Amino acid sequence: MSTVTGSRLGDLLFGAQLKVGRPLMKAVMRGDPYIDLLLGVQDPRPLYDIIRKGGPLYRSKANALVVTGHTLGTEILRDRSLNICHTNGKAPGMQLMERVGWDGSILNLDPPDHTRIRRLAQPAFTPRKIAEYRVSVERVCHELLDKAERRGGFDLIRDYAGPLPIAVIGDMLGVPESEHERFYRHGRVIGSIIDGITSLDMARDFKHAHSEYLKLFAELIEARRAAPADDLVSVLAAAHGEDKVTEHELLALCATLAVTGFETTTNLIGNGVLALLENPEQWQLFLDDPDLGPKVVEETLRYDSPALQATRIPHEEREVAGQRVKVDEALVVLVGAANHDPEVYRDPDRFDILREGEPDHLSFSGGIHFCIGAPLARMEGDVALRVLAERMPKLRFDGPRRRRSSPVISGLETFPLAAD
Ligand code: HEM
Repeated sequence: MSTVTGSRLGDLLFGAQLKVGRPLMKAVMRGDPYIDLLLGVQDPRPLYDIIRKGGPLYRSKANALVVTGHTLGTEILRDRSLNICHTNGKAPGMQLMERVGWDGSILNLDPPDHTRIRRLAQPAFTPRKIAEYRVSVERVCHELLDKAERRGGFDLIRDYAGPLPIAVIGDMLGVPESEHERFYRHGRVIGSIIDGITSLDMARDFKHAHSEYLKLFAELIEARRAAPADDLVSVLAAAHGEDKVTEHELLALCATLAVTGFETTTNLIGNGVLALLENPEQWQLFLDDPDLGPKVVEETLRYDSPALQATRIPHEEREVAGQRVKVDEALVVLVGAANHDPEVYRDPDRFDILREGEPDHLSFSGGIHFCIGAPLARMEGDVALRVLAERMPKLRFDGPRRRRSSPVISGLETFPLAAD
């Protein structure tokens, strides 16, 4: 069997590190609500409330200053003097990820490298491109529902919200039909790393899928160099030819789009359907007027954000909300909490697709790292929910669902539904 660290002993030590990390944290730092959050809970909202009561900047024993307020959160995310990486050039949690061969690409970069790589990916997300993708998103949505109807027994995540973003990003990158199965198989494993690595088996699976995925893209880049097409890989291959990006950066960006775009979009669709079915009057409003799709998407992002936190690192000592913050101390914006800030949102725990006149949620973060995929995710969410409402207006719960208990991602793992 292949190893993760390069030796059996290394694997043993790495596995032990993953195994003891959580219980150790639990034992040493008991009574810290942010630690409790990091250890994973089904419903983080009670912990958000406790942290909120600790003031605008809650000092956690996990060497983090935690923000729950919308106004301060926005300021921190937009502050250009704050960084993604520590002064040693590594983003939080990066050392663990590097052990399995993933460096996070654009997600873990500060300017000027961040600016250069982001510029390369940008052509894939222009309004013209998003309008073009819309047609294929509609087609894929119908194909997935046709398939689910033939198969019988509908699980929203397995049959619809899970495969959709993988197909869409495959299209965007230019993965040919003949490689869809390979892209899907390895992409699913790669996408799951967004939650972090918690076991040696997971590390092993990721490392294997990641190396297979990179092979696939190395082949695709070679093919596009010879015969460019209208896709992102062709744009990246041309940039490589002009020395704007290294081979490593190029492949890392392709893998990062899977990590950032799969699980998040899946959970936007899953969390949206869950909120609509738990609030039947809102589902009815949407059935009566499917043009409310974009509003359903925005309210889902606010009410049950798929991404729960974003971190910034100061490289100079400074004052934030009346507290001294040291160099390299993490400022963690709890996006899920900021989106329920009672100072900013009326009745924040109510799901209301007709909300108006309130500030934007922070679910796509802010500033120079504002989610580059936001226009794609918004369009996909709109189309996916609309097609579902049109084809399955009698949608209802059909059995127990399983929620993730992750501090990073909010969503369902299984979501059985019936449509008759
Ligand atoms: C509902 C769906 C999505 C959510 C909630 C989401 C959320 C986020 C958040 C919170 C960040 C910023 C992290 C930070 O500030 O440190 C981010 C960045 C990013 N997202 Fe998304 N995302 C979604 C969909 C997508 C999609 C579909 C793609 C691509 C196909 C994508 C690609 C990226 C990339 C490349 C970055 C890094 C941007 C940068 O650092 O400049 N995301 N996303």
